[in-house]
Formats: sequence, C-alpha cells, structure tokens
Amino acid sequence: SAVDRFLYAMRLHDDQLEDISARFQAEMKKGLSAESNAAAAVKMLPTHVRSTPDGSERGQFLALDLGGSKFKVLQVKVREGMGIRKGGVEMEEKIYPIPKELLIGRGTELFDHVSESLKDFLQEKNINLEKTHPLAFTFSFPCEQPTLNQGLLLSWSKNFRLRGLQGKDVVQSLKGAIERTGGMNVDVLSMVNDTVATMMTCGFDDQRCEVGLIIGTGTNACYMEALRHVDLVEGDEGQMCVNTEWGGFGDDGALNEYITEFDRDVDAASNNPGKQIFEKMVSGMYLGELVRLVVLKMAKVGLLFDGFVSDALRTKGKITTANVANTRDILTGLGLTPSQDDCIAVQHVSTIVSFRSSNLVAACLSAILTRIKKNRSLRTLTITVGVDGTVYKTHPQYPKRLHKVVRRLLPESHVRFVLSDSGSSKGAALVAAVAQRLASRRKQVDETLFPFQMSQEQLHLVKSRMRADLEAGLKNKNPSTIKMLPSFVYHTPDGTERGKYLALDLGGTNFRALLVNFKKGLHQNTRLYHKIYTVPMEIMQGTGEEVGNSSSFFKIFITLFVLQGTLLTWTKGFKATDCEGHDVVNMLREAIKRRNEFDLDIAAVVNDTVGTMMSCAYEDPECEVGLIAGTGTNVCYMEDVRNIEKRDADAQRMCINTEWGGLGDDGSLNDIITPYDAEVDQNSLHPGKQRFEKLTSGMYLGEIVRQVLLDLTRGGLLFRGHVTEALKTPGIFETKYLSQIESDRLALLQVRSILQQLGLDSNCDDSIIVKEVCGAVSRRAAQLVGAGIAAVVDKIRENRGLEHLNITVGVDGALYKLHPHFSRVLHDTAKVLAPLCNVSFLPSEEGSGKGAALITAVAKQKDKDAGCKGQT
Ligand code: BG6
Ligand code: BG6
Ligand code: GLC
Ligand code: GLC
Repeated sequence: SAVDRFLYAMRLHDDQLEDISARFQAEMKKGLSAESNAAAAVKMLPTHVRSTPDGSERGQFLALDLGGSKFKVLQVKVREGMGIRKGGVEMEEKIYPIPKELLIGRGTELFDHVSESLKDFLQEKNINLEKTHPLAFTFSFPCEQPTLNQGLLLSWSKNFRLRGLQGKDVVQSLKGAIERTGGMNVDVLSMVNDTVATMMTCGFDDQRCEVGLIIGTGTNACYMEALRHVDLVEGDEGQMCVNTEWGGFGDDGALNEYITEFDRDVDAASNNPGKQIFEKMVSGMYLGELVRLVVLKMAKVGLLFDGFVSDALRTKGKITTANVANTRDILTGLGLTPSQDDCIAVQHVSTIVSFRSSNLVAACLSAILTRIKKNRSLRTLTITVGVDGTVYKTHPQYPKRLHKVVRRLLPESHVRFVLSDSGSSKGAALVAAVAQRLASRRKQVDETLFPFQMSQEQLHLVKSRMRADLEAGLKNKNPSTIKMLPSFVYHTPDGTERGKYLALDLGGTNFRALLVNFKKGLHQNTRLYHKIYTVPMEIMQGTGEEVGNSSSFFKIFITLFVLQGTLLTWTKGFKATDCEGHDVVNMLREAIKRRNEFDLDIAAVVNDTVGTMMSCAYEDPECEVGLIAGTGTNVCYMEDVRNIEKRDADAQRMCINTEWGGLGDDGSLNDIITPYDAEVDQNSLHPGKQRFEKLTSGMYLGEIVRQVLLDLTRGGLLFRGHVTEALKTPGIFETKYLSQIESDRLALLQVRSILQQLGLDSNCDDSIIVKEVCGAVSRRAAQLVGAGIAAVVDKIRENRGLEHLNITVGVDGALYKLHPHFSRVLHDTAKVLAPLCNVSFLPSEEGSGKGAALITAVAKQKDKDAGCKGQT
C-alpha cells in the first residue's frame, strides 16, 4: 500500500533486528567496561541489588514512586514468613498529581512537593509521625549509584527537566526536602530505578524473574549480570542487577541507519535533543508525536485528507499514545474530515509506528537474554521478564507482538513475560527490606569493631605509659613491667669489623644456623651462609634439656657479662621446663658436650632486637634502635649509661633490651584491652604476661581475629551463624593468612578461597567482614607499636638534649615485612606522635644472626681474642 511504501524505513526485518541486537550487545559491553564506560551511550549502571527476592524479606515501608506517568506515595507491608507465596504483601497507595510547571522548574520545588505529599499521606492514613519509618524510593531516571541509598543524577529524561539537580545525590535532595517539610521521621533506605523495582515485584512471585522491562512514558530494562563483568563494582562473585538505561542507545550514532526524518523531528522538538534516541523511537511519550508527524507529512504530499492540513494537526502533542491504538475519533477531533480510506491509512501508520517500537524492544531484549545465556554457559535459557508501563499495559496488540518477535529471535530459549500487577513499589520495598537487614548487620559489625579503633588521645596515653615504664625499668623500680635489660653492647659497628663467625638464631618463626664472614671491613664483602631448621612444638614446650639437645633455645636473659645469660621467662610459643632462671649459655655448652662431636667457644648471647639493631647499624650509622614486629614484639635502643642503674662500665652508652612486650602486665592497658584480647590472653601459654605483645604481635593477632569472628558468628552475623570446628581451632589464622587476606591486590574471591583453605565456608559478604576484622586488629597493632616507638625515640632525643633528632630504627619480623599495611600505619603513627623526631625505618637484610656475629666482632676488636662465636 501507499503507507507501506511511505514508511518503508520503519518496517524492520528480522535480519535488521538481529543487526540491532548485535549492536546493542556491543553497547552493553562498552558500558560495563571501566575503560569505555565514560564514553558509552548505554550507561549500564550498577544498582547494588545483588539478589532477587528469596522470601525472607519482611517489614513495613513507606514508598515513593516518581518518574512514571503517575507520582504515587505508598505504604507497603511485607509480612513475616509468608515467603514467595501470594498474599504476603499489603499495599495502600495514593496518586498525587504534579503540576506541569513543577516538571520544568527548580529541583528543590519538585522535591518539596514530593515530601509534602508524603506528609499528607502519613496524616491521611493515620501513620504515626513520631516513629521512624523506613522508606523505599523508586526514581526512574539514570542515576549513578555509589551505594544503594545514593544516586547521582546523570540527566533528566522524558518530560522532566529540572534545574539544579544534575550531578547531585537525589536521595540527599529528598532528605533535605523531608527536613524542610518537617514533622516526620523518615529513613531513606534505598533508591531504585523503576525497572529494578519491577523486576523485584515480579520476582516475588516468580524466582526466575531476572529481567525488568518498562515500556511506558519512557523505556528501559535491567537484568542480573555476573558481578565479574561489572567493572565498576569490586568483587567477582555472584550477580548484580544492572540498569542498562537503554533509552540512550543510539545517542552516539549507533542507530543512524535506522533513524527516519520523523525521528529526527521528534528529537529536535524534545526536551533533550540528541539524547535518548532509542527511547524516542519506542516509548509512550513519543509514539503519538511520531504518528502525527507522519500523518502531517502524508497530508502535505496529498496522500491523506485530499491534501488538507488543519492547524491542530500541525500542533505538537495533539496526537497522544492513547490515540495510537484507536485513530478515528482523534482525526475528527483534529478538525479533519477523514474518508474511510484515510481512517484505514492512519490506523496503518499507527500500527507501523507501534510495531517498530515492539520490534526494537524485542531486538534489545533478546540481546540481554543472549548475554545472560552466555554468561551462564547455557544451551537453553529459561527466564522470566517482569514488565510494566502504560504502552505495554494498554496497547491491545503490543504485548502479543513483542512476545512473538522475542521468541522468534531466540528460538532456543523459554521466555515468560509477567506483568507487574501492582506497580513497582512492592519490589522497591523488598529491596529496602534487604537493605535494612544489611544495615543492621553493618551496625552490629561496626559496634563490635569499634573498641579496636584507637583515638589520638588513646595513642598519646599509650605513648606516655610506655615512656613512664621505660623510666621505671631503668631505675629498677619494682614492680616494673618492662625489664629494661642491659645488653652490655656499648657500640654499634663502625664497618671495620672482620672475621668468621658462627651464629645461632632462635626465637622467631625460624631457628637458623649461620656462618658469617666479614672481610676487610667492606660492607659489600660480607658473606653469609645459613640454614633454617624448624623447632617442633614438642620441643618448644618440652624440657629445656630437649631444647638444648636439638641445639635450639630461649629468649629473655640478664647478661652479667657478655658470656652469661639467665633466662628470665619464656614468651611467645616457648614453654620448655627447667630453663627459667638458668644460664642458657651453660645449657647450650652442656648440650654441645652431650653430643660429643664438636667444640664451640660461645662468645655472646644477644636478644634478636639487639642483633637486628647491630646488623642494620652496619649499613646505617644512625641506626640506634632495633625493633622486632614478628611472632613477638620488642625494642632495644642505645641508652645513656648515666641513666642506667645496673651499669658496670664507663662507656657513654649501652644498648638496652626493653622487653616492652610486658607493658600492661600491671593492668595499665586495661582500658584498651577488649574482651577478645582477654580471651586470647587467658588461652595463651603465659596468661597475664606480655599484654602489650599480645595486642601487637603475629603470634596473637590471628587469635584475636578468630575470637571476633566467633563472636560475630554466634550473633548470626557471619557464616550464616554456623560455628564450625575450623572456627573453634586455635591458631588457624597464622600471620601469613592475615597478610594475604588484607592484601589490596586480592579480589574477594581469593579471600574466599583462603578462608576455604582454613575450612571456613564463606560467601561474598562474609569475606568482606572477615577482611574488615583483620584490618581492625592489625591496624590497632601497628598504631600501638607506633606509639611505643614514639616514646623510645622521644626519650633518646631528650637524653641528648636535642630539639630535633634524626634516627634510624632497624626492623625485623614477618608482621613488619610481609603484612601489606602494618609498616605504613606504624610509620604514620610514629610520625604523628613524635613530631620532633625524623624516624627512618630500615628493614634488616639477613636477620639478627649477622648482628650477633658483629657484636662478637666488635668485642673482638677490643680484646683481640681469636675464635669467637656469636649467638642470638
Ligand atoms: C508504574 C510503576 O506501574 O509504571 C512506575 O509503578 C513506573 O515505577 C511506571 O515508572 C512506568 O510506566 P509509565 O507508563 O507510568 O511511565
Ligand atoms: C628474624 C631474625 O629475621 O626475625 C630473628 O633473624 C627474629 O632473630 C625474627 O627473632 C623475628 O621475626 P619473626 O616473624 O620470625 O618472629
Ligand atoms: C527513562 C529513564 C529510565 C527509566 C525509564 C522508564 O528512560 O531514563 O531511568 O527507567 O524512563 O521509566
Ligand atoms: C618476645 C621476647 C623478646 C623478643 C621478642 C621478639 O617478646 O620476649 O625477647 O625480642 O619476642 O622476638
């Protein structure tokens, strides 16, 4: 017919639809990828909705539905335990008309109207104004959502064009308006697009519903995408609903071949020229106009009404979408006198225009369904599409045509279409219900972790307590928690040391034997050979004789002169009997004698901190502090001899092994010790001892984490409330796991696989919480050590009467070296708490054994005694 020839370009064949579908698939990819998103016409906005309803949702919500043809306020009650089955939701709603001028005025005025309508609704329905009501907000415009309750408006569409809101958070604007209106307590929990709300509404009755579609004033679709493809959101596991904003398809020219002169005219006369090109070919707001422009042109060229054109026919908006279904009445209303043929022809125009609309929707919808099918590697996809919008609901042939074309384009899939029976607010309330559950979980997790947060004030207190105990220890005041043991090391190395030394290094994660050769005093010429042995648990906690026999050893000692070391107490994982109070040098000598294989001359016993300081001082003469942040924690530093009670030399300085791990053993840290720390202490080998060490060192951090996880799990906040055997196992969280879990480079999926290795079956949310717990515990540890270091360096500065001190801290230990954040937080804290000191940290290269050898070498320089051996 003449009409067919005239509208040839609007009739799309299947191969063209397939081409459009392929183009839309490419656009989706572009929108999802982080690199191309900014330039993409189809925005593919992550919605933070991660699952469709599962029936566990409940609660009572207010809802606002803004952006469709009607603005509504609602109350939605989702009843407990009703599950997926029907009847679980009760709704009351009221439509509030929006005066036309408000649609193109100031944003704040529109939102004032919204919040006043809300208040009117509350009053009319006798809803308590005192109570706080959770609110679900359906806002049907493109918004970038950093979280579920934030939405930065990208642009207006349809018949809305308001000033002052673009780029702003519309949830904030709504809250502002609610405050201005006053007299209600409302908590805006979530904001969703109408497509998302529609998918959720339909998903309540049909679990297969994973697509939401609107063909109303505007058009749009959302669907459940695999999170691994959503670049803009962290995480790679599970699904997230993506709001495609497909109305923008074609804004970059992708549809140019399919655009007719009528589409161009509609666009040019619209609120937003150049934008929402696809929407303007499809949705209710534009279909009537398209028909009018076609009819006008046909009349002008004499194909209709004998060439007569009325003023009304020339006027924008005179044909509406409602007329598209039935044209006869409208034609007379437009001051035209249509013949029978004119009526048939105009009806035909309407059919072609609306048929093109449903064809375009079918093409893009099939692109989405194809994508879902590929994501899940399915041969056949069975899926439900939830639909809403006046075009779909009121145009008599539209749904049937749409379904038919979709099924033709996707012969292998089973696609069901479900009409949203009650608008979008039911679904919006379901999203809010999930958000509410997560928010209450969030709050409880935050409360649990709050005591691990150290205020500046608390850190200052820790620093001054450390300082006070350093002084008390030096004065030998009893009882002093910090032993401040003289090491009888008076000088750091000067680089001229030489000779070959054997060293044993016991007490850290590894037991090592080393051979060190200092040649010619040139740093680069140090040769070092070492071998690592493990100390079995039975030996660590057996008898001292066994420790000696396996030629392994001890920790704290008092050296009267360098060749004697009485073990005061074991710490960390050591508890071998018959050692405390004994001279470990003698014990080692006897063990060597028992073996009867070789002879050794033991020259020095030094603590690992001292060994570390010496080894770093060999590289950097400003190094006068040694720090261990590993299995245990401890510090040594060069103290002025005049301050030392138990002095026996006239040297100027002596290295003091602080044994600062004992800070707090008199209760001075009780105000920061949490119940989790107390539990860890009680279950440790040495209850009540080394309280500072138990807050800060690798041996205990994992246990603290485990205690927190246990508590969260018992409270139902983690691992679905299942306290498993793995979780009850002491020691499962070794420091290395903490380091791995907290690594920024690690995706959540990898966190999950680490947890799985530990026997903890976690989902994505669990992994996030576990990571947070680890972070809170390790951060506090680093801050406390930082506060301790600040106390030590400030003391050195004051000893020397300096206004400003440059100093280097030699450091060793797995926590410092391997944890992704510990060292940074430690440095930052020390900097803030000791602003008059410029502290550099130098990680020790070869462990403390080298330092022990150096001590021997330094001593040897002094008395020229050959054949000395060193030991940490
Ligand atoms: C309604 C939904 O049923 O449909 C709205 O509740 C949605 O959220 C609307 O925006 C879309 O259709 P229309 O035709 O009103 O734009
Ligand atoms: C090693 C030192 O490098 O670090 C040991 O050689 C020290 O002497 C140890 O005890 C401390 O770290 P960790 O993490 O092994 O306890
Ligand atoms: C417009 C909006 C979109 C909405 C659709 C249907 O396209 O930009 O957010 O979903 O209309 O209402
Ligand atoms: C423990 C020991 C101490 C050692 C520290 C680091 O605190 O008591 O001597 O320096 O661990 O290994």
